[in-house]
Amino acid sequence: MPKSRRKTLAVLTSGGDCAGLNAVIRAVVARAIEGYGWRVIGIKDGTQGLMLRPVDYVELNVNVCGGDMLRQGGTFLGTTNKGDPFAYPMPDGTKKDRSGEIIDAVREMGIDAVIAIGGDGSLRIIRKLAQQGNIPLVAVPKTIDNDVHLTQYAVGFNTAVDVCVDALDRLQPTAASHHRIMILEVMGRDAGHIALHAGVAGGADVILIPEIPYTLEGVKAKLDNVKVSGRNHGLMVVAEGVKTETGGPVTVAHSDQQVRYGGIGHYLSDRLAKLVGAETRYTVLGHVQRGGIPSMRDRVLASAFGVHAVDLVAFERYDRMVAWQGRGVTDVPLAEVAGVTRSVSLDDPLVRTAHGLGIYVGEVRT
Ligand code: F6P
Repeated sequence: MPKSRRKTLAVLTSGGDCAGLNAVIRAVVARAIEGYGWRVIGIKDGTQGLMLRPVDYVELNVNVCGGDMLRQGGTFLGTTNKGDPFAYPMPDGTKKDRSGEIIDAVREMGIDAVIAIGGDGSLRIIRKLAQQGNIPLVAVPKTIDNDVHLTQYAVGFNTAVDVCVDALDRLQPTAASHHRIMILEVMGRDAGHIALHAGVAGGADVILIPEIPYTLEGVKAKLDNVKVSGRNHGLMVVAEGVKTETGGPVTVAHSDQQVRYGGIGHYLSDRLAKLVGAETRYTVLGHVQRGGIPSMRDRVLASAFGVHAVDLVAFERYDRMVAWQGRGVTDVPLAEVAGVTRSVSLDDPLVRTAHGLGIYVGEVRT
């Protein structure tokens, strides 16, 4: 163990929440305080807490962050996926660069290193801040979409998939009772990892993901085959980021002027009801996938990530992200991660598995 003076370590969560964030914070606190005797503070609401004066933070210790944190969804530090500090939306409608305020706060608080738990987008912004302000940074990947480059798993993904599989387990009996085709729309803006895993584990007949083009005729052919085989119902999983057959995104405008994905399940339900001549229903799982009690896998991942992140700080190996590769935790250069989306590749073994099971996964031949 490296001998060092007592450091002040700041931890924050950024971007959309997910299950397992509290478990990461707990592991960071345990390792930093019990292992190294450092001080740990938690910044509230991602980088937002560092823009406030006084800075919004809490002192963390092993009592505040005990074993109960393993079981709690969300993030008790709060988070945000709005308000890029380099172009911060001001009340008068203008955009202001507030990065300097964050960097000043880190200096004034005597923070020696920051552990940021975030997804692709928020880690990119935090890395830019760290570079501009010379802030020692270690990143921990989280996102239910599981699209962070160079890590097989990000915190939150496994729990989200469990939620989707549970939904399919509940949809299947009602589909069978009513002779229906049930369409489950799951999250996944740019990547279809959730849909692919949930569809395979939940016995879907059709899985549509943003990475693989599909045709309604292809979907119909599969559903017709299901009928011919004697089964009276079908299950489909579709990622929210899947486009219409002609390539248009299906989005919903929100009151905050932001446009988010949503509605592809409805679109497919309407089209397929006519095309297949079957009764269809769709369910949009939405943020249910982000909440709830973290799964065993996410608790293990979060714990390994938190401990490893603190060890990287101890060895002053900064500008790195902890990652899961093969059978365990490792770390990778943050520079290689930022700005790259880990999509489902056409030669993904699970795409082959789905295809081998007879699932229609779009116009792909493996
Ligand atoms: O990136 C994770 C994610 O859950 C996406 O799958 C989804 O489109 C988005 O966040 C929703 O974000 P918000 O919390 O802004 O609704």
